[in-house]
Formats: sequence, C-alpha cells, structure tokens
Amino acid sequence: MSRSLVKVKSTLLLGKDRLSISRAAKIIKKGGLVAFPTETVYGLGASAFNADAVKKIYKAKGRPQDNPLIIHLCDRAQLDEVATDVPQAAYRLIEKFWPGPLSLVLPRAANVPAVVSAGLSTVAVRMPDHQAALDLIKASAVPIAAPSANRSGKPSPTSFRHVIEDLSGRIDAVIKSKDCIVGIESTVLDMTAIRPVILRPGGVSREGIEMTLGSSVLVAGLEISSGGPISPGMKYRHYSPRAPLILITGPAKRRQRLINAINVYYQGQGLKVGLLNQIITEDPAKNLSVEYLAAHLFQSLRRLDHQGVDLILAEETVTTGIGLAVMNRLRKAATRVLRV
Ligand code: TXA
Ligand code: MG
Repeated sequence: MSRSLVKVKSTLLLGKDRLSISRAAKIIKKGGLVAFPTETVYGLGASAFNADAVKKIYKAKGRPQDNPLIIHLCDRAQLDEVATDVPQAAYRLIEKFWPGPLSLVLPRAANVPAVVSAGLSTVAVRMPDHQAALDLIKASAVPIAAPSANRSGKPSPTSFRHVIEDLSGRIDAVIKSKDCIVGIESTVLDMTAIRPVILRPGGVSREGIEMTLGSSVLVAGLEISSGGPISPGMKYRHYSPRAPLILITGPAKRRQRLINAINVYYQGQGLKVGLLNQIITEDPAKNLSVEYLAAHLFQSLRRLDHQGVDLILAEETVTTGIGLAVMNRLRKAATRVLRV
C-alpha cells in the first residue's frame, strides 16, 4: 500500500484519476464494494453479475433483502446483457434521457443474479451522467449494481463525506468527487406495464417523460393506490433525519403562522426547531428554484441533525418538474403532515 493512499477506518479514499479508477475497478472485479459519485446521489457499487458481491451491499447498508437495486451501465450495448424484451418506448426514453437520472424497469435477463432484483423477474437500469461513474463501469468491464450509498433509512448521500459518515469501515473504497448536482435520486419508471408507471419520482420529470412518449404515464401513490406497494422500496420509511420532521402544507401565509406558533412553543420549552426551507435558502442571493431545493434537500437534513435540533419543520413546494420528487421525499421523511 503506497503512503499516499488515504484510508478512513478500512475504507480507501480514492480520486477520479486513471490510476484510482483502475484501482477501484480491480476491487469491483474481485467482488468488493466501491462507492462512487453520480449526478443524482452517491451509489454503492458491486459487479451486477456477482451474487456474493451484491449480497455484501445489502449487508453494508443494512438494507432489507426485498428491496431491489438499480444496475448502472456505461454504454447502451450493455443493456442487452441485463434486460430482455425492451419495448420501443423505452428506446425513445433512452435516446432522450441517457445518460441521466432515469431508471427503467424492464424484464431481467438470465445473466443477472436474482439477488440484484430481490427475486423479481424485472430489473431497473440506468446510465448515470457522471464521468467518474462511467469510467468506473467501463474499467470494471461489467454493469454495476448500486443503491444509494447511505445506511438504510438515512437521507441519501450527496457528498463523499456523507458516504464516509455512514459506511466507512464497511466498504472497500469511496471515489471522492464534488457534491452531486441533481441531489435527488433517479426517476424509476416501470416499462413492463401496459401504460408506464412512475414508481419513484426523481431527477427526470413526469412532464419530460410524457412529452417524449407523446402519452400520459401513471404515478404510483397518486393515480395508483393499489393494496400493496408496487416498488418494494416505497414501503420503507426513508430519508429520515434523527429529529422528527413535520411537513406543513397549505397556503403560504397560514404555513408561516403555524411555523411561528410552533417555534415560539418549542423555544419556550428550551427546545430547538430547525426550519428546513430556511436552511436550504439561507443565502438570499442563491437561486430559489425547486432544482436548488432538490439539490440541497438531503444535505440539509443531515446538517439539521448535526445541529442537534429537536424538531424539523418543512414546507410544501410545487409538484411540477423535480418538485414532485422533492414532495415525495419530504412525505417519506415526515413523521407527520399538517395541512393548514
Ligand atoms: O439515482 C439513483 O437512482 C441512485 C443512484 C446511485 O443511481 N440509486 C438509488 O438506488 O437511489 P436505491 O437502491 O436507493 O433506490 C432504488 C429504487 C428503490 O425504490 C427500489 O425499490 C426501486 O428502485 N427498484 C429497483 N429495482 C426495481 C424493480 N425491478 N422493480 C421495481 N422497483 C425497483
Ligand atoms: Mg436509497
């Protein structure tokens, strides 16, 4: 081991240079775990064809065994190695959105071990829009199965520091890069139903998908409220900060009144309230777009936890564009939703 290599506990901290990528690829080829940056959040990768390596992902994260992983590709030719019977509509979406934050659920190819998909006959696939991720997949010469690189239940990691916080000592290496630009996970779109269904809203908007397909799609949980969750991941509490989070919906003025009242009450008890929207947009010179909110959501939840607040208050945002994904994550993180 060269002296210039940094380790946090037993986890190797790597750069994005060629030597580091080839070191990381070697780990993947040998059945190890490497966390890597993508445009959405950091992923925790293993060879998608190595069942034992994939099992280690579940263990390192403490992830329930019935929650399938997403396979990451670096080139379209790899699609046939992992999926079969790809419909024409999927190719149109691939043309438009790959590389990018859109995961397509397709029939699983026989090469892919069942554990990747938690036993389902389908598989979720995407091509990340991040050079280091693409370089790693290419150098590894296999598609890489990867969930978000957080401990199960915690907010997804948008900085390599979050990965270290959650997983150092439990994985072989982390590829260090800048913070993730999109900041919220990919849209998971089921292409195996007659009409495509958004199982998880994310970085690619519903409007963008519908425009590309020229037809409408369904959104699980909105248009579809079946007896059980369709995407296994949807049933778990997620993205949870340590402090309870209350999501406040309704007209802005009324929201503000309630926030002020809760704040006064808590402070009177000597307790600390964290205002999520204020933390995210504390610099008024910053762009207050919903994209900005999305990019800073998870890191702000972690920050509020570090500040040791007793309660987090979050306000609703629009449900158009990436706002649909922001609201989905806030609802999942919330212990209560209050409508004023
Ligand atoms: O942006 C992202 O998607 C990030 C980066 C690393 O690519 N990955 C990510 O993975 O968020 P994960 O494991 O945290 O979330 C994957 C979601 C889960 O909700 C899971 O249930 C769903 O995708 N999923 C995966 N395979 C599926 C399948 N075959 N059928 C239905 N849902 C699936
Ligand atoms: Mg996740």
